[in-house]
Amino acid sequence: MSNDFDYAHTNKNVVWMSQNTNHLPTHSAIQEAIKTSANNREYTKYPLASGLPELRQLILDDLNLPNQDLHITNGGTEALYCLMRHIQPKGTEMITSDPSYFVVHKFAKLGGAKCTDIPIYHGDYKFDIEDIKNAINPSTKSIFLIDPINPLGSTYSKDEKKAICEVAEDHNIWLIDDITYRDYAPNHTLAANLLPEKTITAYSVSKNCGLAGLRVGSLVGPKDFIKEIRGTMVSDLGISVVGQRASVAALETKSEWLPGLLETARHNQSLIKAVVDKIDGVELPVYPSAASMMVIDIAKHKANPQDVQDKLLYEHDIFVRAGNYVSSRFGENFIRVSFSIPTPEVERFIEAFPKVMEQLS
Ligand SMILES: Cc1ncc(COP(=O)(O)O)c(C=O)c1O
Repeated sequence: MSNDFDYAHTNKNVVWMSQNTNHLPTHSAIQEAIKTSANNREYTKYPLASGLPELRQLILDDLNLPNQDLHITNGGTEALYCLMRHIQPKGTEMITSDPSYFVVHKFAKLGGAKCTDIPIYHGDYKFDIEDIKNAINPSTKSIFLIDPINPLGSTYSKDEKKAICEVAEDHNIWLIDDITYRDYAPNHTLAANLLPEKTITAYSVSKNCGLAGLRVGSLVGPKDFIKEIRGTMVSDLGISVVGQRASVAALETKSEWLPGLLETARHNQSLIKAVVDKIDGVELPVYPSAASMMVIDIAKHKANPQDVQDKLLYEHDIFVRAGNYVSSRFGENFIRVSFSIPTPEVERFIEAFPKVMEQLS
């Protein structure tokens, strides 16, 4: 796998559909903010450990959660890593799904916690409330809810989210609301609005603002919880000041660039669907996706997801992800593609994908 990344990173022609990153235009203010920060050599000092006050405020405003607090982190990844260290010690359990963003499961397991990995690759391709209830036991400390879900792009209605919040409340466990892809969802409900005292929100500017390379995120939650966890975070000396300046510019200008970005992402999805519909044995379990990626199920086709990934990458310079990265049980059934990229790049995928599937049939 690392060879794939070595290849993709050294080859500028590669169409990057493998990490749900956002390569669409946002706002020139972001690059200006980066240049200004660099020109001022702000990077010579440690930044304010608690984060730039304006960034902290912009994140709370973005979520409209004025009564919560936050800690600025090196991407959502640090937020989730430190959260696992804090609330999922050895012997505890976390309600998780399969497929899922397994990096967080790995963080929990590193500390000796167990993940339930409830199968969700069927039906509505998201948690069934009864499955959650059945999986909870006295060791359960949290429900890891990714909404919209990476890799499937399914999302929860307000009623569904309410039902999950009620279960968390009844059992006095944390609800971790990973909202990395929230801005792509037409109707998204924040769990923090339904269960503020037991919800921890994992926030990221990587995929919406297109700042994955700058590594900025946040852990948002009840004030007393953030106070308690703050001293245990990895980013004890703050995070990249350049990244914070860029994030401020991105959030300040969000209303100007987000609508156009979403329109392109929706259009790209429809182009992918049109080509998928023409290939025998290939289908989209969730369409439209409420995130910046989707799953293409190839279970009824003879091709193996890893072969599809390899052929697309090494013969067509298109980087998609075989399902086993995000599913241990169903990874052989699908590939994952992200579409928050310029339409001409999606068109390269659309041209290559049917050829690859034909060759592997
Ligand atoms: C569901 C989910 N959560 C969190 C992250 C971490 O994002 P970052 O560390 O770039 O903020 C990702 C990245 O792919 C993700 O898919």
